[in-house]
Amino acid sequence: MRKRKNKNLPTNSQSQPYPTSKPSILKTNTISTLHSPLDIYILLSFTIVCLCSTRVHRVAFLSSFLHTLRRKVRFRSDRNQRKMTKCYPTVSEEYQKAVQKAKRKLRGLIAENCAPLMLRLAWHSAGTFDVKTKTGGPFGTMKQPAELAHAANNGLDIAVRLLEPIKEHFPILSYADFYQLAGVVAVEITGGPEIPFHPGREDKPHPPPEGRLPNATEGADHLRQVFSHQMGLTDQDIVALSGGHTLGRCHKERSGFEGPWTTNPLIFDNSYFKELLTGEKDGLLQLPTDKVLLSDPVFRPLVDKYAAGEDAFFADYTEAHLKLSELGIHFHAICTWRLRITFLYARKKNAN
Ligand code: HEM
Repeated sequence: MRKRKNKNLPTNSQSQPYPTSKPSILKTNTISTLHSPLDIYILLSFTIVCLCSTRVHRVAFLSSFLHTLRRKVRFRSDRNQRKMTKCYPTVSEEYQKAVQKAKRKLRGLIAENCAPLMLRLAWHSAGTFDVKTKTGGPFGTMKQPAELAHAANNGLDIAVRLLEPIKEHFPILSYADFYQLAGVVAVEITGGPEIPFHPGREDKPHPPPEGRLPNATEGADHLRQVFSHQMGLTDQDIVALSGGHTLGRCHKERSGFEGPWTTNPLIFDNSYFKELLTGEKDGLLQLPTDKVLLSDPVFRPLVDKYAAGEDAFFADYTEAHLKLSELGIHFHAICTWRLRITFLYARKKNAN
């Protein structure tokens, strides 16, 4: 894989990320077409350049064109779903090393007992994403007092404070990556699935407006409004992600609710769904938004499936958590950057 330095790419760290493409295959509901405006633009440009430009231009465009084509045709059919190759932002080697080191430090901190709070931090950071305006999302704004002051985030100041001493050792990392890494470690360290982590999120300056996270007293329409219409996730993601309540508890002083969902709130397993099916019990809690998973005709079969088999839950949870943690990342923009850089490089070379 070729790597080129791009001084123009926004960076959240001292080291410079490289705008190379690092393909990784993700399940996604996004249907990318083979005839997008970008393809047509490339094809046209390529034809024009072939006809009238210099050899350097021709080679550069051919390389970009083939790269994009390779990315576009790498589709696989799997259980009627399409898989699409995504181009992740690639960070420097130094950044990668810092991610690995930070992960080890986070394991030490989170293993003590704050996994539920860290998972909630990661989820509340990402869950504000609005697919229409492309605002909010996992971009490190949670550390700002304005976002921490949102009613839904009561108690998350503790998570931010607990993480700060570790973050100080890794100034190269963006808060955006760091908080999502904490969420991934929280799931892993409590016995849950290993969720892939791709670094490269940048810190954004402005927190999202208040009111984008779900209200626990509402019903199925509200969950769909928030998760599907606002964030761009699916019904399956809603149910799988709700399984995050296998960890942790409600605190009266934070949310007005009190109690855990499961008998062992420090273990990540499918017990949330099992408890949901066996009904309310003394000492355990079910929020209205949890109970709605039982009454909705689309949600219910998924609850049954996850209660019956942990593997099915882990597989769908991994997919949903990954999507959540990557909301708002401009995968295609990176490839466009690559094309533009290739062009500029060729022009510069030609001018010399
Ligand atoms: C479906 C919509 C959701 C609603 C309405 C909701 C609501 C809540 C509420 C009210 C609390 C209690 C906060 C407190 O009092 O400390 C809570 C805690 C928690 N939530 Fe959710 N949540 C939702 C989805 C999720 C998702 C998607 C995840 C993660 C994948 C998640 C993970 C957690 C965790 C781990 C806690 C426990 C935090 C702790 O123990 O400190 N929640 N949630």
